[in-house]
Parts: sequence; structure tokens; C-alpha cells
Amino acid sequence: MAESGRDILKAKNILQQDGLVAIPTETVYGLAGNAISEEAVVKIFEVKNRPSFDPLIVHVASIEQVEEMVLNIPVKAKELAAKFWPGPLTLLLRKQAIIPDIVSSGLDTVAIRIPDHPITLELLHHLGFPLAAPSANPFGYVSPTTIKHVNDQLGDKIPYILDGGDCHVGIESTIIGFQDEKPEIYRLGGIAVEDIESVIGKVGVKYHSSSKPAAPGALESHYAPGKKVELKEIASLDSAADPEQIGLIRFMDLYPGIPEKNQVILSATGDLKEAAKNLFSALRKMDEMDIQYIIAESVPEIGLGRAINDRLRRASATC
Ligand code: TXA
Ligand code: MG
Repeated sequence: MAESGRDILKAKNILQQDGLVAIPTETVYGLAGNAISEEAVVKIFEVKNRPSFDPLIVHVASIEQVEEMVLNIPVKAKELAAKFWPGPLTLLLRKQAIIPDIVSSGLDTVAIRIPDHPITLELLHHLGFPLAAPSANPFGYVSPTTIKHVNDQLGDKIPYILDGGDCHVGIESTIIGFQDEKPEIYRLGGIAVEDIESVIGKVGVKYHSSSKPAAPGALESHYAPGKKVELKEIASLDSAADPEQIGLIRFMDLYPGIPEKNQVILSATGDLKEAAKNLFSALRKMDEMDIQYIIAESVPEIGLGRAINDRLRRASATC
């Protein structure tokens, strides 16, 4: 198990020496290293077992810091930043040479955001350098929203977890790119499409096949637990299926045909924000249960529901 605590100076010391620290954000925990140091960034890829073609998100404390790392910020990007930062929004912007190519996997854009978490913002202010941080999970698995989640999988690979409590958004940031200044959503996430559109008008959403992802987080199979996930209505269940062997993730209420202990309700009040916060814990809990496979029902396809359904779809994809 990794040591955990709220010691910002300890985190700073490790990061200054090109070590890695798991950091809390409002979305999910990140596996952070100095974004300007190739040595630190290489460690991130190794610990996560992440393919080098999958670029990282850079976390900074202020818009001024963003401006030191990118070029030509489109007007709509500035509007979104003013409205949603600090917050679960990642912008893809033309990178300056200060960001090592390994961070962006050789792309000429860098993914960048100001996270909305007090302890991590304080850490970033202390550091003076940006932090590259993918979600703190092995590549392809479900993102961590608690320090226990981080410890369960990466605990023996990192020296320290900065404890910021449970992540309150619970689903990763919304990623927006601007090819030819035209905004497009590369990954649905913690800020709903409707909220983005209320600021900059209509935006497209990129959908990708697994063979050529624009954001590899958009790979078909991603955010996936170890057990098989079927995304369907429980009412369509084959009558021969053994209810004891099924784990059920449902939006609002229990389903009478499956043992209660095998079910997780995402939000009894039908609150999509609460559902997003509980989603990854639900998938992890199912993975630990003594069942054969997981059935997940879609939630309403509005607001954060779109991002939740996106993650469920990817968790259920097999390739
Ligand atoms: O909420 C979040 O975004 C969390 C927290 C820790 O900030 N981070 C996160 O990072 O989800 P990660 O590495 O798990 O996902 C980053 C996604 C990947 O799908 C990656 O492909 C995409 O961002 N990405 C990064 N740079 C990109 C770029 N230049 N162009 C397109 N996609 C990019
Ligand atoms: Mg991830």
C-alpha cells in the first residue's frame, strides 16, 4: 500500500525529484508527474502500462500558466475556460515546445485543464511546474474515485497518494478540441454538452472506432472492469439466467428479480450528478462480488447521462 495523507510538501518533494504522486481532482484521481520532465512522464506511462500513442492531460493552476504552454487560443476556448475553469473541462490547444512531445504523443496539441480541487490547486501553486496526470488506474480499467481505488491497483507502484477525499464529479473531464477553430467534443465527461452549448453554441461530438481513436480514451473498450458487462434492459433477461450470478447496475430503483445484494442503484432520487459520482465505484464493487457477469442499464440520455451511458457502453465493449 502507498502512504496517503494531506502533506503537500511531501508531494512536492517527490514531484520535484521526478517521482509520481496520485492526486485528487474533482473528476477522478490522477497519476501525476512533472509535465516538463521527460523522465517523470516516462514513469507515468510505465506505471499505468499505457501505450505511448495515448497522450496525457496537463494540469495547471491558472490561465496565465496555460498561456505559457500553448499558442493561438481560439475565442471559443477562452469563453469555455472563463466559464468552466477550474472544473472538469479539458481543452486541446496548440502546444509550445516547452511541453515534451512524449506528453502529447507527438501531436501538435496538448490537452490541458485547471482541476477544481483545493488541495491539488494548492499543490500546483506551490510547484511552479505543471502536472501531467492520466487517471490513476492501469490502462483500460475503470478510473479511481477514492484513495482505496488507487491503492487497490497502483498502491505498490507509487510512493504517495495525496488524500483529497472522494471525487465529487466521479467521471472524467469533457475534452474539447478546435480543429480549424471549430469546437468538437472528443470525450463526453463531467460537463454536460448542454452546458457547453449554452456558452459557445452547437458543438459536434466525435465518435470513433477502436482502430483510429482521436482521443484514445475514446477507444471502444475502455473504462472496463474485469467482468463482462452487458448493457441492456434487465426486463429483457433470458428466463433461464441464474439471478444469483448477475450483478445489476441500475439508475433509480431495485429490480425484484435479482437479489438485492447483487444490485447497485446509482441515484435513488434520479439525480444524474449523483449517478455519475457513483458509477465507477459501482463497477469496481461488481468486480469484487461473487457473480459471473454484470448487467448495466442505460440512464436517461440527457445532461451527464450522456457521459454515463458512454462509459457504460465502453465498459461493455469487448474490443
Ligand atoms: O478528468 C480527467 O480528465 C482525468 C483527471 C485526472 O484530470 N484525467 C484523465 O486522463 O481522464 P486520461 O489520461 O485517463 O485521459 C485523457 C484522455 C485520453 O483519452 C487521451 O487520449 C486524451 O485525453 N488526449 C490527451 N491529449 C490529447 C490530444 N492532444 N488530442 C486528443 N486527445 C488527447
Ligand atoms: Mg483514463
